[in-house]
Amino acid sequence: MNAPIVSFNHVGKSFAVNGFELEAIREFNLDIAEGEFVAIVGSSGCGKSTLLRLLVGLDTEFRGHISVDGKAVSGIGGERGIVFQEHRLFPWLTVADNIGLGLVNEPLSGAQKQQRIKDFIELVGLSDFTQAYPHQLSGGMAQRVAIARGLVASPRILLLDEPFGALDALTRQQMQDELLAIRERAQITTILVTHDVEEAIFLADRVVVMEPRPGRIKQVVDIALPHPRQRSGYDFHQLREELLHELTSDDHYEPSAPVQIRDLPLTFIAC
Ligand SMILES: Nc1ncnc2c1ncn2[C@@H]1O[C@H](COP(=O)(O)OP(=O)(O)O)[C@@H](O)[C@H]1O
Ligand SMILES: [Mg+2]
Repeated sequence: MNAPIVSFNHVGKSFAVNGFELEAIREFNLDIAEGEFVAIVGSSGCGKSTLLRLLVGLDTEFRGHISVDGKAVSGIGGERGIVFQEHRLFPWLTVADNIGLGLVNEPLSGAQKQQRIKDFIELVGLSDFTQAYPHQLSGGMAQRVAIARGLVASPRILLLDEPFGALDALTRQQMQDELLAIRERAQITTILVTHDVEEAIFLADRVVVMEPRPGRIKQVVDIALPHPRQRSGYDFHQLREELLHELTSDDHYEPSAPVQIRDLPLTFIAC
């Protein structure tokens, strides 16, 4: 791998809860290459959102090191955009103004900002809704606005925290297709947190499987399937079974044991 754009080194995180220490993340180590699409899957409470919050710089108290382009993360920065599960749009702002919030810290003129906002509204296919308010949008449209807001400052890294979790199955699949298309056009390094194994396999180059709390890496699985991926394909199905097994098996599970793994077009990297 070339020098990674994102590097987690021995990252750990604890919270003080009612005077007790709650260990949320333990010894998390991961390098992510420029342009890579990494999905992090794990059960609720295994520290996925916390990892993204640390990477985006919303929480700077943790053990170990996180670097972006070789520089330690010390706060939020325009090179990292984040999209949350709930779209978090402001109801009193139009689509354009909500997206514009992603530019507040950018050193651009008013005209440049307007152009940028227009470009990103087009990118997510909402040109007819520039002046609409969030309550006039469907869930999928609102989430597309949130994605545009995450992208408008032209970050080099897009962080997505269960961005499609609240959408119905059909909209969810459409959004997954769109995310792939956007990523193709914007050539952006993407980190997606999800509890949906199928979503992870459909989208990612690598899937990081987390252990339950304290969050640790259980497996990193390369997804070698070509795009567009067929959810109904045999390889896809095998990967899904394997990853589901990983997620639900106990800590004593030996990943090298099952024979069928050798037949699959993927690489298991023991962590
Ligand atoms: N601000 C906080 N204060 C105390 N505990 C927290 C805080 N944020 C997260 N946690 C705890 O850390 C663990 C991981 O949380 P989180 O990262 O939100 O998990 P996930 O996103 O995988 O569901 C959970 O046990 C959660 O209760
Ligand atoms: Mg979460």
